[in-house]
Amino acid sequence: MSGQLKNEVNNSSEPTLKKFAEIKNKHIGIATQSYYVNDAQYASVLTREFDILTPEYQMKMGQVQPQQGVFDFGEADKLVSFARKNNMLIRGHALIWHQSLPDWVVNGHFTKEQWIQIMKDHITKTVSHFKGEIYAWDVVNEAFYQNGAFRPTVWYDNIGPEYIDLAFQFAHEADPNAKLFYNDFDTEVTNPRSNAIYKMVTGMKARGVPIDGIGFQTHLKIEGVDYSEMKKNLKRFGDLGLDTDITEMDIVTHTFAGTQEERLQAQAKVYSGVIQVAMSLPSCKSVVFWGLKDGNSWLNKYTGFSEYPLLFDNNYDKKPAYEATLNQLKL
Ligand code: XIL
Repeated sequence: MSGQLKNEVNNSSEPTLKKFAEIKNKHIGIATQSYYVNDAQYASVLTREFDILTPEYQMKMGQVQPQQGVFDFGEADKLVSFARKNNMLIRGHALIWHQSLPDWVVNGHFTKEQWIQIMKDHITKTVSHFKGEIYAWDVVNEAFYQNGAFRPTVWYDNIGPEYIDLAFQFAHEADPNAKLFYNDFDTEVTNPRSNAIYKMVTGMKARGVPIDGIGFQTHLKIEGVDYSEMKKNLKRFGDLGLDTDITEMDIVTHTFAGTQEERLQAQAKVYSGVIQVAMSLPSCKSVVFWGLKDGNSWLNKYTGFSEYPLLFDNNYDKKPAYEATLNQLKL
C-alpha cells in the first residue's frame, strides 16, 4: 500500500463513528469549509467517520449576499455537491445572526417594513436555492444574552422580537421539508438563557410558528460540566416535541491545569459524558463537532491560545476524545 495516505484505507470492518451512530438512528458530523474537502486525507477521514456536515461560515449572510440583491452561493454549492456525492446530510447555518453580516446590512438605514423585506428576501432566496438539500436550518442564531434578555441585534433593534417568528415562517414557506432550528450557546443547562429560549419556543408553538428543534452549540471547557443538569434541560425541550441536537461541540483545553496528556484525558471524559447524554435522549437526532482536527478550530483565533478542542490531532490521528466518543456510541 505504498503511497496510500494514512487513514485513507478504511476496510469495512473498521469501527467508525457514523457506523455506530447509525445503529442508534443518530447522525454525527462536523463543521467544514469547501477549501478543506479538496484535501484527499481530510475528505477521507470526513467521509469515513461522519454522515452530516455544517458549512462553518459559507452559508452565512456575509458570504451569500455580499451586496443587497446580489447572491453568491458558489462555495456553499461546492459543499452541497460534496455532501450529496458522499451521501451526507447538510445542516444549513445560519440564516439570521448578528455576526458575519455584509456591510450593507451592518451600516443599513431602512424602515421596519424594509428590514422585514430584507430578512424575507434573504431567507427566501437562500432557502429556495438549497431547497431539498438541507436536513435542518439554523434559522435564527444566538438571539439572547446570557441573562435571558433579547440580544440587541440589527434584526431585533429594527423589527422587534417578532423577527424570530417571521424568520421561521419565511424559512418554512421556502422549504416546508427542512427542519427549522433555533441555535444558541451556553444553553446546555438550565440558566437564564435556556429559560428564555424555553419561554420563546413555548410561545412559538402556541402561535403555530413552524419550529422543529433547538440547537445546543455545546462549546465547553473541560471544567464544570453537569451532565445530569444537561440531560434534564435538553429533555424539557424534547418534551415539547422538539429535536435537541448538539450543533457545534468543541472543548477548549487551555483553561485546564495539567500536562497535555492529562488535559486530553480530561477532555475525553467530557466528550464521553456529553455523548452519553446525547445518546440517551430520543430528541437528540444529531451531534456535530465544530471542526475535524485541532488546527481547523476557530477557537485557536477566538481564545488566543493554542487549543486542542476536537476529536483528531493535526496528523489526523484519533485523540482520546475520539475513542471516548466511539466507546459511548458503541454502548
Ligand atoms: C464561527 C466560525 O467557526 C468562524 O470560522 C467564523 O469566522 C465565525 O463564526 N457560534 C456559531 C458559529 O454559531 O457560526 C461560529 O462559527 C462559532 C460560534
